Amino acid sequence: MSRKSVRERVLVVGGGGREHALAWSMRRSPEVELVLAAPGNPGTAEVAENVAVAATDAPALAELALARGVTLAVLGPDAAVAAGVGDALRGAGIPCFGPTAAAGRLETSKVFAKRLMRRLGVPTADFTVCSSWEEAQRQLQGRPGGVVVKADGLALGKGAFVCASAEEALGVARRLLVERELGEAGAQVVLEETLCGEEASFFALCDGERALMLPPARDYKAALEGDRGPNTGGMGAYAPPQLPSWEELNRQVLSQVVEPVLAEMARLGCPFVGCLYVGGMVVSGQVQVLEFNARFGDPEAEVLLPWLPDLLPQLRLAARGGLQSGLAPRPRGASVGVVAVREPYPGPVEPGGEVGGLDSLPEGCLAFQMGTRAGPGGRPEVSGGRVVVVVGSGPDLGAARELAYRGIAAVRFPGMRYRGDIAVPAGRG
Ligand code: AMP
Ligand code: GLY
Repeated sequence: MSRKSVRERVLVVGGGGREHALAWSMRRSPEVELVLAAPGNPGTAEVAENVAVAATDAPALAELALARGVTLAVLGPDAAVAAGVGDALRGAGIPCFGPTAAAGRLETSKVFAKRLMRRLGVPTADFTVCSSWEEAQRQLQGRPGGVVVKADGLALGKGAFVCASAEEALGVARRLLVERELGEAGAQVVLEETLCGEEASFFALCDGERALMLPPARDYKAALEGDRGPNTGGMGAYAPPQLPSWEELNRQVLSQVVEPVLAEMARLGCPFVGCLYVGGMVVSGQVQVLEFNARFGDPEAEVLLPWLPDLLPQLRLAARGGLQSGLAPRPRGASVGVVAVREPYPGPVEPGGEVGGLDSLPEGCLAFQMGTRAGPGGRPEVSGGRVVVVVGSGPDLGAARELAYRGIAAVRFPGMRYRGDIAVPAGRG
């Protein structure tokens, strides 16, 4: 059989570590002839052609895709989804892996997502929605035990507050609803029952009707070792998670969560195409949904993409339709990513200062640039709180972790810090 392979021209939208990993993996695919990154970063510049267009500039991205003959666009960040980049690209006839803004409401509105889950009977924590301080007071008055307060809109991973008491929750509700600490994102809040269990992130590649489940991952949201400190965008991740029968859980998520949600989104006239990220809590063997994201996780994508076989064919099928539902084959071994941040992340950080050591990583170790920009001589310098993620894979979790930590020890920049307990089994930290 001599079927001539398709030569894809891929546009990766975004400029963080997830997009560096996406561009790196597209470059590796034998079916890809061109990779553009908009706007990209100094890391994507090594594997793709960077184009200075913002990830949220929907009309300019559609124009770029048409001018450069792009055959597949892949959306990275939630901000691109929310800005309607998926709509603009589709409007220009470009196949796009990433949802329209309407389908992206699964991530951009927690109220939308929670109400949809309740309607469909998708397992999730019990909740109420409040639009005013008075309502929050009424709901919380005399409520025993803990409660989780979540801002409705996007908040860079900083919009969920796990509170030990109703008093603490009231304080948070006041900051969001009255003081508008997170702006319009906090105009409505969800008050949610606290769940206890093991967290895991599940990833469904969706074509609007069907879904292919990638292996799940575990991500570390807390800033400090031992899962202490404030929540962040993610301090590290590993895959597969150390959960018995994660493949069974993946099957559960496909049938109890992803398939009903896809059917409902199609019924609402906004079919979901792209990566549906299901943030889950496993409680007594049952996955409860904590949140949806309408995109790959960051840093989970950096951990998964180098470890999995070429995903280009699946991304293309998702964008154009024709995926087969099911579970992706289980890859061998494990993959670990450790994120290096600039202090005082998640507080506001000063940009500047060279990022060194990226070209002296141990063999087989990869570094994806998350928050960098081109400094003097084009060398990367710090531009954001999460700076680099170093990824190692190996025959087992221990070997992958050891490689990732050997790699991150080679990286240097002023104010660098990382967690030392990523992928360390509980009780051994
Ligand atoms: P979210 O942005 O909804 O994923 O929430 C961020 C983090 O808050 C999650 O990764 C959990 O660690 C925690 N969290 C969210 N919802 C709950 C819940 N209902 N019960 C316990 N912890 C939660
Ligand atoms: N690592 C969590 C996220 O991407 O939202």
